[in-house]
Amino acid sequence: MPDSMTTEPQFSLTPPTVNRSENAPAPATQRKAKLEARRLNFFYGENQALFDISMQIPERAVTALIGPSGCGKSTFLRTFNRMNDIIEGTRHTGEVLLEGTNIYDPRVDVVALRKRVGMVFQKSTPFPKSIFDNVAYGPRVAGVRDRAKLAETVESCLLRAALWDEVKDRLHDSAMALSGGQQQRLCIARALATEPDVLLMDEPASALDPASTARVEDLIFDLKSNYTIVIVTHNMQQAARVSDHTGFFYQGNLVEFGGTQALFTKPREKQTEDYITGRFG
Ligand SMILES: Nc1ncnc2c1ncn2[C@@H]1O[C@H](COP(=O)(O)OP(=O)(O)OP(=O)(O)O)[C@@H](O)[C@H]1O
Ligand SMILES: [Mg+2]
Repeated sequence: MPDSMTTEPQFSLTPPTVNRSENAPAPATQRKAKLEARRLNFFYGENQALFDISMQIPERAVTALIGPSGCGKSTFLRTFNRMNDIIEGTRHTGEVLLEGTNIYDPRVDVVALRKRVGMVFQKSTPFPKSIFDNVAYGPRVAGVRDRAKLAETVESCLLRAALWDEVKDRLHDSAMALSGGQQQRLCIARALATEPDVLLMDEPASALDPASTARVEDLIFDLKSNYTIVIVTHNMQQAARVSDHTGFFYQGNLVEFGGTQALFTKPREKQTEDYITGRFG
């Protein structure tokens, strides 16, 4: 953590001007925390969904969240871009930090936060617009009007989302005519267009066939050199394939968090072992 963040709180969510390509990635275990939850409790009305969660999410790596249905994975994921704020009657205690800044501080601009912390959902949700307009949506909302600049952004995001070759000749066709797997990659391209540095993915491949799932997994693998990715998945093989770190949740508690390989081969907790060996869940 830079000294400036430990000495005085910083409330600007402007991305640091780091040339990522010059920053050779350090081994995942040595990376600093991009996101952090500190003693986080979360409530839907009277119902507590998360209990005293503390977790550090390393930058430029993939962190998977696993656990049985209803254990709080999506709730936890949504605290990182304050998407839970739009659900009435929710509240939390504790802190959620992005690069050392508490994102629930009243001075934080939530729109700027959500630009930096993009989200991809289980069901792909393209807008009923053209492929081009889907990707250009975020930059246009941010005020970009220049046609050439928009075209450049659309192309680079579709390239990074491994979709460009399939759609470059029909950018002005409706996004709704794409296959499910293409739509999901389009949603990833759309999320990339706001230049986030964190991508939250809630079961991004669960509605896809095996071939499309493999493409999305390859994409996640490629993206992690530049982005911090947090992915919720029900599929333990997928967590083992794509992630560097895994957290196992059970009934709103973080039971175990560690390196993916260690967690799957030598879990420290009996509950983790029972879950990954298929005894429940
Ligand atoms: N919008 C909501 N309003 C009220 N309670 C909610 C809401 N969303 C989730 N919950 C409750 O919070 C708890 C955690 O739900 P959450 O959706 O985070 O679990 P999950 O681990 O993502 O489950 P799944 O694997 O089924 O998606 C559950 O008890 C759920 O009923
Ligand atoms: Mg969920």
